[in-house]
Parts: sequence; C-alpha cells; structure tokens
Amino acid sequence: MEPIKAGIIGFGRSGCGIHANAIENMPGKFTVTAICDELPDRRKYDAFPNAKACAAAEEVINDPEVELVIVATYNYTHALYARKALEAGKHVLCEKPFGYTTADVDSMIAAAKKAGRILQPFQQRRFEPDFQKVLEICRSGILGKLTSIRIFWPGFGRRWDWQTSRTRGGGQLYNNGPHLIDHAVELFGPAKPTVTARLRNALSSGDAEDEFHVLLQAEGAPDTEIILSATCAYPQDRWLICGTAGTLRGNAEKLEWKYVDWSKYPERPLDMVPLEGRCYCSETKEFATGEWVRPEEQTDTGAGAKPAPGPTLALYESLYRSIRLGEPQIVTPEQVRRRIEVMQTCYIQNNIPFPENTLR
Ligand SMILES: NC(=O)c1ccc[n+]([C@@H]2O[C@H](COP(=O)([O-])OP(=O)(O)OC[C@H]3O[C@@H](n4cnc5c(N)ncnc54)[C@H](O)[C@@H]3O)[C@@H](O)[C@H]2O)c1
Repeated sequence: MEPIKAGIIGFGRSGCGIHANAIENMPGKFTVTAICDELPDRRKYDAFPNAKACAAAEEVINDPEVELVIVATYNYTHALYARKALEAGKHVLCEKPFGYTTADVDSMIAAAKKAGRILQPFQQRRFEPDFQKVLEICRSGILGKLTSIRIFWPGFGRRWDWQTSRTRGGGQLYNNGPHLIDHAVELFGPAKPTVTARLRNALSSGDAEDEFHVLLQAEGAPDTEIILSATCAYPQDRWLICGTAGTLRGNAEKLEWKYVDWSKYPERPLDMVPLEGRCYCSETKEFATGEWVRPEEQTDTGAGAKPAPGPTLALYESLYRSIRLGEPQIVTPEQVRRRIEVMQTCYIQNNIPFPENTLR
C-alpha cells in the first residue's frame, strides 16, 4: 500500500520536532510531501528533501498530492484549518487544543462526516505507559470504588513565548491542559462533571494563565483534581488515586499501589457504645502491593519534557490503520469533545474570552 502523503502546516517544535520526526520513523506508512510555515527558513526537513516548501496554509490544503493535513500552527487556528482541509477532501490530524469550544469540535466533526474523511485529534499522551497502567489498575477494581483522583504536573519556571499570550490562544489550560484533562476525564468516567476552576498567571510574561486548578465532581464519581503549577519547585507525584480498597501513587517512571481485600475481614456493624478502654477504632490490615516501573526504552514524558516517541508512534499507527484499513479510531473526536467541554467551562467560569478566529 502507498504511504500516506502528509502536508504539515506549522513547522516548529511540534510540526518539525514531533510530526516530521514521527513520520521519518514510519517509512512505508507515511511520508511528507509539503511543509508550510510563515517563517521562510522553516520549510524544509532533511529526511524529506522533495517536500514542497509552502508559504501559506492554503497551498497545503489545496495540494492534490496531499492526502493528510497535519495542523500544528498556533492554537487558535486549529479548528479553522482542520475544517478547511476537511472541506478540501483531506484527512486531518489536528494538534491539541482540538478547538476551544464544543462548537469548534462540532463544526469539525460535521465537516469530517460530510467529506467522509478521518479527523484525528492529536492526543498522543493517551498512549503514555504510566497512564495506560493507571487505567488498567483502576479498571481492574482492586482499588475498590474510586473516591478521589489527583493529577499533578508540577514545574517551576517562566515562559515568555506566544503560548503565554491570549492573542494566539495561549495559556496552560489549552496548552498542556488537554493532556491532563484527557487523562482525568477518562478516569472520571461517563458522568457529566460539575467543573470548578481557578486559573492564574504566576510567572509568565504574557497575559495567559500558567497555572490551573480544576475540580471535576459528579454524584457517584471520584472527586477529580487536576493541578498544573509553574511555582512548584519540588517534585511531586503525578498520580494519587484513592479508592475504598486501596491507593495508587506515582509518576511517569514508577507507580505503586496497595490494597486490602475487605471480604477477608470481620463485619464491623455500627457500635454506638463508647469503645472499651477509651480506645479508638483500630484493626490490623494486610495490604497486597503492586509496582510498575517504566520500561527502559520508553523515554520520559513528564511535564515540559519532549514527548516520547512511543506514544506518538502509537497514535500514528492508529491513524494509519483508520485511514488505510478502515479500523475504528482509538482517540475519537467525540471523546475529545467531552474534554473541550470541561475546558470551555473553565474559561467561562473565569470570564476569559475565547480567542478570535474560532466558532462559538
Ligand atoms: N501534542 C503535543 O505534545 C504538543 C507539543 C508541542 C506543541 N504542540 C502544539 O503544536 C502547536 C504548535 O506549537 P509549537 O510548540 O510547535 O510552536 P512553535 O512556535 O515552535 O511553532 C509554531 C510554528 O507554526 C508557524 N505558524 C503559525 N501559524 C501559521 C500559519 N497560519 N501558517 C503557517 N505557519 C504558521 C510558526 O511560524 C511556527 O514556526 C500548538 O498548538 C501546540 O499546542 C503539541
């Protein structure tokens, strides 16, 4: 089968460093035939010397040779270019954020349906090995019914690039937030959450938030807290997950969990008589324990680190199978719509206007 001919719009850290790099590692499945960037010195890549150098996105979108358009431009332009490319009959791989509002996502989904093309959100961190392990442990039931989840991305540092400016749709909620919120919503489950959010600009040079604290709550679902900090100089666990039978904690490198099997313990009916000897409730518990250590070959994917090739290649493999073999997508636009709904609520709650150039 012919490799999928891709045109990349926006050739910076993502377009070049993530996408061209991934495609270079998937010969026979993908190739790059067009590269577009506003900056003239960013229109070439050694592994694809014959790729057309384009100055405007439309050149890629309307190029008959291009089958797949990869949108890796400034955040606020994603929905617009994705829609235009779908309308031109291309498959689309769209960087995060997958739009700002559910209206953005709905318009992209409608365009994809009309064109009969694949619309793939680029949420490669869904495939991160630590997250996959966390999901597996939570879904196995050994932690019991989940009561609370904390996902914490600590960091300490300043940023002064466009990702800190609202004029280009910057700010951490829609920058790294899509990864964390994706994990959180997947663990939270199907209930519609009540969202409480605080966004703050602590250190960055632009006007957008570089910290956020988001809480998702619903009857019967675990209280799910997502924190991204620019002012936390000590390492913290990325994961803390509590359930009625146990707890999991850890980070991208290592996870550990402990749990009890309550069925092996005596019943404890409510006893209203003050306890004998004025003591407190106490019983000896025997925890079973488990541990996962990230395999050596899987590079760090922690906050701020260059995304690991493993998760990116997994997403590309899934995209290839959807386009060439008609297999269902693993990360779907409909799933990501739920994440965007959460982020949209955070902006509305904090009176932050959505960037121009997107639908409402
Ligand atoms: N999935 C991930 O892990 C990940 C990691 C990094 C960046 N991203 C996303 O990728 C996108 C780009 O971020 P980046 O870090 O690569 O930024 P960057 O500043 O390194 O690169 C952006 C590039 O796009 C070009 N550009 C912008 N608008 C354009 C347009 N309309 N036409 C042509 N070229 C245009 C700029 O000139 C620049 O070279 C962002 O939306 C970001 O959220 C995702």
